[in-house]
Amino acid sequence: MAKRFEVIPSQIVFGAALLAAGAAFGQGPDAAAAQRGGTLFLQQCSFCHGRDAGGGEDGPDLTRSKLVAGDRGGDRIAPVIRNGRVEHGMPRFNLSEEEMAGVVAFIHAQKTLAESQKGGRRGVDPSDLQTGNAEAGRQYFNGAGKCATCHSASGDLAGLATRLEGLKLEERMLYPRGAKARVTVTPAQGGQVTGELAYQDEFTVGMKDSAGHYRSWRTRDIRYTVDDPAQAHVELLAKYTDQDIHNLMAYLQTLR
Ligand code: HEC
Ligand code: HEC
Repeated sequence: MAKRFEVIPSQIVFGAALLAAGAAFGQGPDAAAAQRGGTLFLQQCSFCHGRDAGGGEDGPDLTRSKLVAGDRGGDRIAPVIRNGRVEHGMPRFNLSEEEMAGVVAFIHAQKTLAESQKGGRRGVDPSDLQTGNAEAGRQYFNGAGKCATCHSASGDLAGLATRLEGLKLEERMLYPRGAKARVTVTPAQGGQVTGELAYQDEFTVGMKDSAGHYRSWRTRDIRYTVDDPAQAHVELLAKYTDQDIHNLMAYLQTLR
């Protein structure tokens, strides 16, 4: 299936990453540590390194990192996390020993998993994208998909396929980036902060503030509102069948 790593919908993607972490480590204490570490990774690291540690907009792919490949039980990873490389965009983190062990286990599990997916690393086969029916996609776009309520093939999406190709196009359709969600947080002690939404679940809200720093809060300590212009896409995601996606892709690829 498609590469799904953006901020939303966390549960689906992250559930898969956690299962994968468990699978890579089998059962036992390592698997449990990797799962705990995965939760922390999702909250504090995925924003830059991607949910599956496979790299994101602001951080490198850790599954292919030489440093990770040479790491034994955290001897090389932990110092980077503790000290950061602040001048290169990697913040420092103050983690307990247990949290550190979990994060390290999670990164190794993701590496094992990435390596087990040979070729199209995340199991995405670009030829899948060519199997749809463009006419069915056009109908879905104008009909059941309700895409045309916000987009126009001759307006904002004109020339789309010349700007974005293949997997990039699919990724963008599933997780649009052009419109970042904003979150406004009001802590109990007052002082409102607004920034780009970086993470959200029941317990935690994270943002990149106007200075570019990552900050997060426990939801129970704050009030917050999210303004997400691409929310429709999140809701759509639950409705897409693989066939809809393939058809839409076939159609969108005609928008040149
Ligand atoms: C704000 C973005 C950001 C966040 C959040 C972040 N990182 Fe990073 N990280 C980076 C960048 C950028 C680099 C590459 C720095 C460089 O070029 O040396 C990096 C490098 C690393 C490296 C070294 C990779 C290598 O091959 O040298 C590790 C390991 C790492 N990060 C782990 C983590 C973990 C674990 C977390 C969460 C606890 C985390 N990072 C959170 C941006 C981030
Ligand atoms: C309620 C409004 C809404 C609906 C409905 C909607 N979208 Fe979007 N779409 C957006 C917003 C907002 C963006 C982000 C703006 C951007 O990325 O330029 C976006 C971005 C996109 C992008 C990326 C465009 C780019 O230039 O990167 C594609 C492709 C896309 N939508 C396809 C679809 C398809 C296909 C459907 C129907 C299945 C759909 N959208 C339904 C609001 C909507």
